[in-house]
Amino acid sequence: TTSLPARPEVRAELTERPRRTRRTPALRALTREVTLSAAQFIYPMFIHEGEGDQVITTMPGVLRYSVAGAVARVGEALALGVNTVVLFGIPGHKDAQGTQAYHDSGIVQVATKAIKAAHPEVTVIADTCLCEYTDHGHCGPLCEIGGELTVDNDAALELLARTAVAQARAGADIVAPSAMMDGQIGAIRTALDAAGFTHVPVMSYAVKYASGYYGPFREAAGSTPSFGDRGSYQMDPAGGYREALREARLDVDQGADYLMVKPGLPYLDVIRVIRDAFDLPLIAYNVSGEYAMVKAAVAAGMLDERRTVLETLIAFRRAGADAIMTYHALDAARWLKEDQ
Ligand code: PBG
Ligand code: ZN
Repeated sequence: TTSLPARPEVRAELTERPRRTRRTPALRALTREVTLSAAQFIYPMFIHEGEGDQVITTMPGVLRYSVAGAVARVGEALALGVNTVVLFGIPGHKDAQGTQAYHDSGIVQVATKAIKAAHPEVTVIADTCLCEYTDHGHCGPLCEIGGELTVDNDAALELLARTAVAQARAGADIVAPSAMMDGQIGAIRTALDAAGFTHVPVMSYAVKYASGYYGPFREAAGSTPSFGDRGSYQMDPAGGYREALREARLDVDQGADYLMVKPGLPYLDVIRVIRDAFDLPLIAYNVSGEYAMVKAAVAAGMLDERRTVLETLIAFRRAGADAIMTYHALDAARWLKEDQ
């Protein structure tokens, strides 16, 4: 058996000892640079037109809510200090033009009204896109260019602008266009202003990559494209920083109030690049596939959920995100509360 030395031998030449400032939990907490709080979380919610809340098998713990279920869930979020939600609609009826996105009786509009009526203090962000509402699953109406079916950019602008105005009319506090159509921020800003919604900010999914990490979301929303993929409008993962800077710059010039980078974890470097180049508030989207990976590993006994999730959320803040869209929001808020 070994006995520990009462006074270990020390090397005089070792003058820098960072371990000194990590000796106790209090010392570590004293100089932490990065903070995390529930007020910085945005909780994504799927709302469907039917009754009852439905399980999403690819996203354990995430549900498709009825309007009534969503109202109740928002109450739970607020009680945990999560003040902001983003709504995705799953319409009962889809068509080529995605009409349920911009109809006043569309599901996001109905849910927004109900949620704001029950909880005026919550911030409702409406996701502004058409892919959940089109029968072909693309983010705008189709046209033929060079013999190929593709999304008609400028026709999409008109419908996205109408969607944003309908969302604002329903009481959405922020609209968040995610279609990656050229000119969408300007088209939406102009339409909001013309309709008297100058006070409604636009949160731009400015830097959004064509990603495999959206798989569980598309399963949940039934928004997988029926042909092709989104590669002709979402960004190429290997596109590099110049393309990211250009996309963000275009949206800033068109009047964006917030910028977003999406997905999150595989693009922490892009978050940092955008943070350093622009002075707008920046959001990171910790997307469905990132959530599903953690959940699967936790279910297999491979990871400690609480530790892994909080470490991940801290990583977004360290990279430079001000706020984080995350399906972990309520769990993380609960853990932060327990730590207080
Ligand atoms: C649709 C949209 C997507 C997500 C948010 N808005 C999916 C897509 O582009 O196919 C993905 C979010 C997630 O994976 O959590 N415009
Ligand atoms: Zn879309």
